[in-house]
Amino acid sequence: MLRVAVVGCGGIGNTHARQYAQDPLAKLVACCDILRERADSTAARFGVRAYYDLGEMLRSEEVDAVSVTTAGADNGADHYEPTLRCLDAGKHTLVEKPICNDLAKAKEMVARAAQRGVQIGVDLNHRFVPMAERARTWIAEGRLGEVLLCNMELWIGNGNESSPWFHLRALHSHSVDVMRYFCGDVRRVSAFLAHSSRRAIWSNCVINMEFENGCLGGLFGSYEAAPRHGIERCEVLGTRGRFVLDNVMEDLQLYPHDSDEIVRHRWSMMGPGPRSFEETFRNRIHRWLEQLDRGEPVDGSGEEGLRALAVIEAAIVSFHERRAVEIAELLGPRA
Ligand SMILES: NC(=O)c1ccc[n+]([C@@H]2O[C@H](COP(=O)([O-])OP(=O)(O)OC[C@H]3O[C@@H](n4cnc5c(N)ncnc54)[C@H](O)[C@@H]3O)[C@@H](O)[C@H]2O)c1
Repeated sequence: MLRVAVVGCGGIGNTHARQYAQDPLAKLVACCDILRERADSTAARFGVRAYYDLGEMLRSEEVDAVSVTTAGADNGADHYEPTLRCLDAGKHTLVEKPICNDLAKAKEMVARAAQRGVQIGVDLNHRFVPMAERARTWIAEGRLGEVLLCNMELWIGNGNESSPWFHLRALHSHSVDVMRYFCGDVRRVSAFLAHSSRRAIWSNCVINMEFENGCLGGLFGSYEAAPRHGIERCEVLGTRGRFVLDNVMEDLQLYPHDSDEIVRHRWSMMGPGPRSFEETFRNRIHRWLEQLDRGEPVDGSGEEGLRALAVIEAAIVSFHERRAVEIAELLGPRA
């Protein structure tokens, strides 16, 4: 059993804590927040010790792994410092998305984990659902043939008017990660950004991608939609068929080109336990624990979080400079 702690006791820190408390592979032992009342409230809820200083927690508690669920600018600026401290203390570290809001710092986080010989994972929870795994198996089995196009939509409502890039950095690690999960590494990016007359930040985007395998992708993103009727849709077309994965985990359909029969997986209300978006966190955190326990490299690694962020940063450069941007310009050639 792994001894774990959570740093950052907001809504998402409490979600991580809840998952650790329920997972048979983990024992939640501590939580930390610079806001005393937040740390105290989480500690009381889960019956663990509260800390208000990460250094003190790392010195006082025997933990194997830590979740960094801080936020900050673009929902990612505050991840860097506590993540490096956890890694330097030899702790496996699961950081919320985006890995950071700064590409150079994100690179440093990934490099530091490698130097310290510990794992860094990112909470790219949208890919940790059985339907996405099934769709990826279809690709691996050749049921789509050669993968040609990926059409992705992720749109929710979020009225935060902070940094101009808040929508891109805070939200689209998820969508880019799901696209990369199905289509592999991205080679080139070009982007258009816009907003409605009532907004100032770039709350709408179309980001075009060319993948290393030659597949083309398009991401339509928005912070100006209503989530009532679903937030996410991913469609992948190949030479033998296409699939549509609707709303992260609700419905998956495979349309073979040579048959009228459609394969469909639906979310059953008869499944065990209450089913909700929380399941994405449960699955992601359980996989993290399982892989740490087995000493395996982790899925949804820091490197994958970094590569998702690089696509977003490339989109920002593309928008500024009105050109397509190579990922290698930002990350160097793939090792
Ligand atoms: N994976 C998902 O589906 C999903 C969904 C929503 C949000 N998120 C991510 O979760 C993260 C947290 O979101 P939130 O809404 O809970 O944020 P929040 O701002 O409510 O909570 C963050 C907490 O971290 C604390 N904190 C900041 N720096 C700290 C430090 N150095 N040491 C200790 N505590 C520190 C803050 O005081 C705050 O209480 C963000 O990165 C966000 O992008 C992920």
